[in-house]
Amino acid sequence: MSGSDTMAASNERPLRHFTPPQGWMNDPNGLVYHDGEYHLFYQYHPDSLIWGPMHWGHAVSRDLCTWQHLPMALAPDDHGMCFSGSAVVDRHDVIGLFDGGEGLVAFYTAHRFLGDDEEHYEQEQHLAWSRDNGRSWHKYAGNPIIAAPGFRDFRDPKVIYHERSGRWVMALACGQQIRFYVSNNLLDWQLASEFGHNQGCHTDGPWECPDLFELPVEGGEASASRWVLIVGVGIDHEGPQDTMGSFTQYFIGHFDGERFHNDSPEAPLLLMDQGRDFYAVQSFSDVPDRRLAIAWLNNWQYAGHAPQAGWRGAMTLPRELTLAATDQGVRLHQRFASELARSVSPLEVAPFNAPLKEGDHLLATPGADLVRGELTLEPAAGSRLALSLQQGTQQQLILCTGEDTTEVAYRREGQSGVARFDQHFPGERRAGELDGRRIHLQWWVDHGSVEMLIHGETRQLSITLAGFLLPHRYPVTLSVQSGSVPLIDVSLDAG
Ligand code: FRU
Repeated sequence: MSGSDTMAASNERPLRHFTPPQGWMNDPNGLVYHDGEYHLFYQYHPDSLIWGPMHWGHAVSRDLCTWQHLPMALAPDDHGMCFSGSAVVDRHDVIGLFDGGEGLVAFYTAHRFLGDDEEHYEQEQHLAWSRDNGRSWHKYAGNPIIAAPGFRDFRDPKVIYHERSGRWVMALACGQQIRFYVSNNLLDWQLASEFGHNQGCHTDGPWECPDLFELPVEGGEASASRWVLIVGVGIDHEGPQDTMGSFTQYFIGHFDGERFHNDSPEAPLLLMDQGRDFYAVQSFSDVPDRRLAIAWLNNWQYAGHAPQAGWRGAMTLPRELTLAATDQGVRLHQRFASELARSVSPLEVAPFNAPLKEGDHLLATPGADLVRGELTLEPAAGSRLALSLQQGTQQQLILCTGEDTTEVAYRREGQSGVARFDQHFPGERRAGELDGRRIHLQWWVDHGSVEMLIHGETRQLSITLAGFLLPHRYPVTLSVQSGSVPLIDVSLDAG
C-alpha cells in the first residue's frame, strides 16, 4: 500500500484549520474583511489531488473558527490559470465600476503556458470585481492591468492602500525581487521601485507571495512604527532540493509609498516561522483593529506526496501579527487569533507543586480532538526537556537551557502512521534561541498539525508542523530529560 492509500483510510478533518471541500489546495488568496465576514479565497484544483489548472476557491467566516464554503470565485480562461493574489474593499468607487457605491476588487496573476512545456510560460496581472460581497465575480474587460514583462516569474500581486500618499500600492514578486507599483484608480499602475538585490535570502527558487503592512512597535518608544515586507522563498523544482523547501522570510523597515528601505540590510535571515509548514502567508485587508494572517500549512518540498483523504492541503490558524522591540531589534511576533480560544473548554490538569525532575512526565492529555495548551516554566540552567506531541506522526519540541538563553530544537518522526511518504518530511532542526529564564509556550494540536508559539523574555519563535491526517487522539507529554524544571503555570483546553 502506498503512503497516500494508507492515509486515505482516514478522512477526519481538522476542526479549526480550513480545508477545501475536495481536491487540491495551496496558497490563501484575496484575504479581505467586509461586512462582518472574513473572506478566504485559495489556490484550488477541485477535480484533482495534485496541483493543476488553478482556480480561486472561496469560503467565508464570521468567527474565524468555522468556515462556510461558497461557489468557485475564479476559474481559468483563455488568458490562463488564476494564480495567487489579493483583494481590497474599494469604498469610494475609485475604480468606477460600482455606481458610486463600494465593492470588492481582486488582483490575481493570469498564468499562461506557451506551448506544451511547463517551463515556458507568461504571467500578467489581472483584476476581477464583485458588487455583491464576493458572491459573484466579473473579470475586468480591460485585463491585463499589468502586461507580461518579458521575463517568466512575475506574480502574486498584494494590493494595499497607502494612507500617507493617498495611493494604492501593489507589491509583486518578480524573479528574485519585489516590485512596487502605484495607482490612483486600481486600474492604471506605474512601476515605482524594486527591492531585493543583495537583500535577504536568495536560493535557486523564485520569490513569491509578498505582503506589506505597517504596525506599531510594542515595547518600543511611544508612537514608533515599522513596515514589514514578507516574501516567500519558493523551491527550485528542477535543481537539487534544498533542505528547507519553501519558507517565509521578512524584512523590517520603512516604506514611503514608493520604496521599501530595509532597516538592517546586514541582518541575518528573518524567518516568520521556524517550522516546516508555513508558506504563502497573507494578511487580511480592511480589518479595522489588527493585522490578521493565514498561511498554507505545507511545504512545496513534499506537498504533492502528502497523505490525502479526498482533499489535500490545509491552512494555518488565523494569527494576529504584532511588532516587538527585542534585544535583537524589531521583530515580527504572532499570537493565535483570540476568537479561537472561545471555542474550547478547560481540561483538568494533574496538580503539581514541586519542580519536575529527571524522568518526570506531565500532561498526558486524554482523547480530545483539538487541544490548546499553555505552559510557563523556568528551567534551571543545564536542564533539557521535551514536549512530545503525538499528532499523526510524533512531533517533539526540545528545550535546552544555558546560563541565560534557551536553545530550541524540534524533531518530527520520519513517517506518518505506517507509511514513509517523503524523505524530506522527517528530521530534527534547530529553531533558534530564546532570551531569559522564563519560557512561555502556547500550542494548538488539531487533526493534521501542531502550531507552537514559544516566548522568551523578548524573543519569540513560531514552529508550525504538519503531521497529516492520522485519526489519533493526541497525548501531549512534557518530560524532563535532565535538570530541574519549576513549572509556573499550565492550562489545557479541548474542543
Ligand atoms: C506559491 C505559488 C505562487 C503562485 C501559486 C500557484 O505557493 O507558487 O507563487 O501564484 O503558488 O499555485
